[in-house]
Parts: sequence; structure tokens; C-alpha cells
Amino acid sequence: MSSALSLTPMQWLGLLHPVLIILFVYPVVGATIRLGTLARERRLQINPLPASVPVEHADHGRWVAGGVLVAVLIAFAHSYLAAWLKADPGGWDGVGRLVMVVLAELGTLAIYLLLLKVRRPPSRAVLALACWLALLVLGAQPEINRLTDNPFNGDFWRSHYWSGVLLTGLLLASVAAKPEIARHLSMRRLHVYANVLVAVLLAVQAITGTRNLLVF
Ligand code: HEM
Ligand code: HEM
Repeated sequence: MSSALSLTPMQWLGLLHPVLIILFVYPVVGATIRLGTLARERRLQINPLPASVPVEHADHGRWVAGGVLVAVLIAFAHSYLAAWLKADPGGWDGVGRLVMVVLAELGTLAIYLLLLKVRRPPSRAVLALACWLALLVLGAQPEINRLTDNPFNGDFWRSHYWSGVLLTGLLLASVAAKPEIARHLSMRRLHVYANVLVAVLLAVQAITGTRNLLVF
């Protein structure tokens, strides 16, 4: 017997993005922030902590960036699939395009995995930028709900999409600059300022994402 609370397979797929973020990303963000604070206390010799603390912080940061990237790609995939089913229920038109965007998503993930492997600074910079640009191109497709692309329109600042891609870009930048953050004071300062903004954007995403579940 069907109930008012039973969901269609597409609705279940739509829940995958928020559930992944809530169950996996936000808890790891909490641990990352705590480990970052401890790394600072260790460096300033306020607290005699093991050398593994800054390493653990950076490893957690890489998981956060990867987790956010995967969750965003899942949200995009849901939007592409939902738009295709709406335009052509059960038909074959648009299957080629669907396959292309899914392949582009896998390519974006492959770029991130490569970013974790390479060591030379120019390679890290190029791969992080390529990963973020690929995300922007995937997000620029008509199926994606960006509210508006005009920063002079109030909806731009209410858009879950635009704050989401900014936050992902900042996390990718930290992953790319990992050795420099550990080595240079100026980079560490920049890292802390950027990640205070990341923490604010994570709160913004929680608010606009739950709003979207209520409204759309
Ligand atoms: C939630 C986001 C994050 C916050 C709030 C955060 C915060 C911090 C803080 C407070 C420090 C200590 C700075 C100091 O010693 O003065 C730090 C260091 C560092 N962070 Fe992050 N961070 C975040 C994400 C990341 C990410 C994504 C990475 C990328 C891998 C990363 C890599 C590093 C590295 C390599 C250091 C230097 C550790 C050392 O001293 O060797 N962080 N971070
Ligand atoms: C790190 C945090 C998050 C980031 C970076 C993020 C990013 C994104 C992006 C880029 C989209 C694509 C828009 C589209 O496919 O049309 C999206 C969709 C969506 N997100 Fe998130 N999100 C985050 C957290 C959340 C949370 C916590 C929730 C809910 C509790 C949520 C709910 C949704 C919903 C319902 C959609 C699809 C509806 C729509 O906005 O068009 N998100 N998200």
C-alpha cells in the first residue's frame, strides 16, 4: 500500500546529495576544523602535540574536498536525469547527451584524483583550475538550477549553486597549495582567511539546501 511518504526512485536519487553531505561531509569538516586548530597550537608550541596532527588535518581536508566534489557531481547528475525524463519520458532522444555529461563528470573526478597524486606546483595549479573549470562548465548546462547568473540580481546571492561552486573552488585551492601552506607563513594566513569563508559558506549551503528541499 503506497503512503504519502513513499518516494519515487528519482526522489530517492535527489536525496543522495544532501544525505551524503550531512552524513559524511559535515562530520569530517568538524574534525578538520578541530585538527586545524590543534595544528596551529602545535606550531605555536602552546600544546605539545604529535607531528601527525598537521598531517591528519591536511588528509581530512582532502577528504572534505573530494566528498564535496562527489556530492556536487551527484546533484548535477540528478538534475540532468530529471530534465531528460521530463522532456522525453522513456524515449531515446537526448541519451547521447546524457552519456556525454556523465563521462564529463567522471573526467572531472579523474582530474581531482590526479591532483592528489602530482607534486610539481604548476601541475597542481593547472589540475585544480581544470577541475574547477570542468565543474563550472557542467554547472553552466541549462538543466542546472542556478537561479540567475547576474550578480546584480538578488537571486544570485540566494543561489545554492553559486555559493556551492565558490566553496568547492576554495577547497580545491587548499588541496592544490597543501605543501606551500605548510611551508610559508603568508600562505598559512591566506589559508586560514579563505577557510573561515569556507566555514561560512558551509553554513550558507546548509540553509539554502534545506530551503530548496522545502521550496522546489
Ligand atoms: C574546513 C576547512 C579548513 C579549515 C577551517 C582549516 C584551518 C586550518 C588552520 C587553523 C591551520 C593552522 C594554521 C597555523 O598553523 O597558523 C591550517 C593549516 C593547514 N591546513 Fe587547513 N583548514 C581547512 C581545510 C584544509 C584543506 C582542505 C587542506 C588541504 C589539504 C588543508 C591543509 C592545511 C595544511 C597543509 C596546513 C599546514 C599544516 C602544517 O602546519 O604543517 N586545510 N588549516
Ligand atoms: C558542502 C555543501 C553543499 C554544496 C557545495 C552543495 C552544492 C550543490 C550544487 C552545486 C547543486 C547543483 C544544483 C543543481 O543540480 O541544480 C546542489 C543541489 C542541491 N542541493 Fe546542495 N550543496 C551542499 C549542501 C546541501 C545541503 C546540506 C542540502 C540539504 C539539506 C542540499 C540540498 C540540495 C538540493 C535539494 C539540491 C537540488 C535542488 C536545487 O538546488 O536545484 N545541499 N547543491
